[in-house]
Amino acid sequence: MRAVTSVEELRRMARRRVPRMFFDYVDGGSWSEKTRWENSADFGQLHLRQRVAIDVSERSTAARMLGNDIRMPVAIAPAGLTGMVHADGEILAARAAQKFGIPYTLSTVAICGLEDLADNVEEPFWFQLYVMRDREFVDGLMDRAASVGCPVLVVTLDLPLSGNRHRDVRNGLSSPPRPTLRNLAELVTKPYWCRAMLGTRRRSFGTLAGHIGNLDDVSALAKWTDGQFDPSLNWSDVKRIRDRWKGKLIIKGILDPEDALRAVECGADAIVVSNHGGRQLDGAVSSISALPAVVSAVGTSVEVHVDGGIQSGQDVFKAIALGAQSTYVGRSMLYGLGAMGEQGVTRVLEIIHDGLHKTMGLCGVVSVDEIGPHNLVFGEVETRIRQALPAAE
Ligand SMILES: Cc1cc2nc3c(=O)[nH]c(=O)nc-3n(C[C@H](O)[C@H](O)[C@H](O)COP(=O)(O)O)c2cc1C
Repeated sequence: MRAVTSVEELRRMARRRVPRMFFDYVDGGSWSEKTRWENSADFGQLHLRQRVAIDVSERSTAARMLGNDIRMPVAIAPAGLTGMVHADGEILAARAAQKFGIPYTLSTVAICGLEDLADNVEEPFWFQLYVMRDREFVDGLMDRAASVGCPVLVVTLDLPLSGNRHRDVRNGLSSPPRPTLRNLAELVTKPYWCRAMLGTRRRSFGTLAGHIGNLDDVSALAKWTDGQFDPSLNWSDVKRIRDRWKGKLIIKGILDPEDALRAVECGADAIVVSNHGGRQLDGAVSSISALPAVVSAVGTSVEVHVDGGIQSGQDVFKAIALGAQSTYVGRSMLYGLGAMGEQGVTRVLEIIHDGLHKTMGLCGVVSVDEIGPHNLVFGEVETRIRQALPAAE
């Protein structure tokens, strides 16, 4: 097979292999998808500062996240329905991440359940919690996560209700796909996906099974989500979660410095600067552009992580340069998974690792701790040129 050299290639391969409704669920954003696309486009606006003649023969991408040694400053973001992108997707992605030496986060609305994943992987993983209306159930989820050995809970705050995702509505997103003529006709063109899916029993929300009715056919995901998730979610809930959860706590979905400070007050160990991959508030700023203000607001009181639009080692380097302790990948992982299962996720991680390792070398940096704003070049091209020219007579 031809060597795959970029996440974009895996995205195209996933588009060919995964049924449209699930590819679009991954690929799309909310409303006009402006924020979804700006997340990655804004990385493209940043320039790296090339340095030469510095001995970079011994470089390391090793980093730390909440006290854990990791191979590079990247973790896998929680993603609902991962097991619909590829059969047993959560297990495959978690194995790829663990073999690579980075954390995997399981979503509340994953296809593979908490206990099921714990039985099928070698190492502990992180659990992402949505605060649902039934708070007793939410407490039970935390207890279950603790009892399968999750060391970290990631509480997502940016989905008190669903953003309108037009592609999902158009495609009639359901899990599993309804046997309409259109869906059946499409499935014939996706033999790779079908073959794997026929070999698994995991086709509905594993962690939620048995607790919430009508799970066999979540025919309108957004409607279902709005029925289960709680728009009254507020900081007192976060405090309550902090009191109950004994492990490390990450608050995800922060874009505003004031919210970041509230999360710190509530006892978070880390926050994730995130707009949910542009799937919630369309028109919100990109995560990378929101990062510096959050970093300066919280200082060193908590770790600041970021996600949204990361597709390469250069993107990771830029995020670290702007003050992130670490990053997460959502879609990049899902494209790899849809394209080639576990092997595809591994390939994504290799591409990002290789890009980061080489970018460090070309910027004259040998360790992740050394990366900072001094590794970036700021300003519009014309302004930079004008400033560099001798002053006009
Ligand atoms: C298909 C998909 C499903 C997602 N499901 C969840 C979820 O269940 N819980 C959550 O906190 N975030 C979820 N997210 C958001 C991701 O955790 C992450 O914030 C986002 O994907 C980062 O942007 P990126 O995809 O550009 O890397 C999801 C994202 C995608 C693409």
